[in-house]
Amino acid sequence: MKRLVIVSNRVPTPSKAGTAAAGGLAVAVHAAMRDRGGVWFGWSGNVVEDREHQPKIAKAGKITYATIDLTQEEYEQYYNGFANRTLWPLFHYRMDLTEFNRRNMASYFEVNDLFANTLVALLKPDDVIWVHDYHLIPLAELLRAKGCKHRIGFFLHIPWPALEVLLALPNHSAIVRALCAYDQVGFQTKDDLYAFRQYIMREAGGRADHDGNVSAFNRNLRAEAFPIGIDADRIADYARKSQHSRQTKRMLDSLRGRQLAVGVDRLDYSKGLVERFQAFEQLLDSYPEHRGHVVLLQIAPPSREDVPEYMEIRQQLETTAGHVNGRYAEFDWVPIRYLNRGYGRQALAGFFRISSIGLVTPLRDGMNLVAKEYVAAQNPQDPGVLVLSRFAGAARELEGAIIVNPYNAEAIADALHQALTIPLEERRERWSSMYQQVRKNDVVAWQQRYLDALADVAVAA
Ligand code: G6P
Repeated sequence: MKRLVIVSNRVPTPSKAGTAAAGGLAVAVHAAMRDRGGVWFGWSGNVVEDREHQPKIAKAGKITYATIDLTQEEYEQYYNGFANRTLWPLFHYRMDLTEFNRRNMASYFEVNDLFANTLVALLKPDDVIWVHDYHLIPLAELLRAKGCKHRIGFFLHIPWPALEVLLALPNHSAIVRALCAYDQVGFQTKDDLYAFRQYIMREAGGRADHDGNVSAFNRNLRAEAFPIGIDADRIADYARKSQHSRQTKRMLDSLRGRQLAVGVDRLDYSKGLVERFQAFEQLLDSYPEHRGHVVLLQIAPPSREDVPEYMEIRQQLETTAGHVNGRYAEFDWVPIRYLNRGYGRQALAGFFRISSIGLVTPLRDGMNLVAKEYVAAQNPQDPGVLVLSRFAGAARELEGAIIVNPYNAEAIADALHQALTIPLEERRERWSSMYQQVRKNDVVAWQQRYLDALADVAVAA
């Protein structure tokens, strides 16, 4: 088997790989690499004054971690700037939050070039390179410019925006041209793939057929949807074990027989958290019978804290939670428990298992792995109900969820009421269809499908 070299901006240290703050990419890539092994290269997460030229190498299990630091300027311009104030909001349809300037864009290409230079020195001739996410779109083009002839795949964890949205990016053409230097580009859903094909055909004057063959910018490549999965058996196992843990028992005691709705998200404006709190308020408003009988537990570890929009969303959420609790709390019941910190996946699986509702209502999300983890963690005899945004990639696969429009508070309140009162038989039916899907397309199947397809691509000599 050829050696696999994974590249992503965020390379979590082994101890942090399983926490919610690390985000879906780190959790999935770690699970995908655990058995197969290989090299995982990217940013250490450290910001330094003077960077060392050599990457730091560390081994854990079968994975070799190779990481480099970023300077303060790179951190601000490449990571906070172009990646997280330009590409992230735009690709999540938040044109109102999208900032663009040439300095940040130049830094984005420079850091990608730094990645390319460092990576070239680590490569063996037979390696297969798999690059992840929006931070590193230009990497293959820059590697090719250095003579790299390897097979290089790319997977986008976030949505690919509709043509009209992408056109608002001043350098859209340079970005898409760079993407076409990969041999294979993978998206989360068919919708993302469709939007990409639209760009290729209507804007780039290229060709993109229904079999996944793309020709544009003098390159031939493959583009396909590879919906990402989770380590379903492991999460189910965590959940079975931690239903009896001290933490889960404390949670149950604190609920005193009340029903629990749970949400777990990085604190990000794409996750629809303010709208979610408002929808929960609407539930208490429209269905007074639930007052005092249901609790919303929202776990939201802070994320990208130096980006102003993230500071703002944090404040808005605090205000909204305070407002709802101020309006409805009793001396022995608080409607929203809002926790600004992360928990390990094991503890989360226990919380998922004892809850009646998993509430996953992003305004836009590439996939949303929490939705799948919620399903995997349920007790088959007495499963909870997933209330899921139609704008999460996961909604394409999890048809047993109650699908909602995350902008519509009244409709979410109705869905919550339905979920709280749904008969056991229907809950089981909904759950078992979703569980089968989550197990079938787990993270190992995803990785295998992607890498098999990449191995089949006819690479131009
Ligand atoms: C999302 C992105 C990942 C990113 C993660 C955490 O899942 O798709 O690329 O790593 O968020 O965000 P951060 O900026 O902390 O890496």
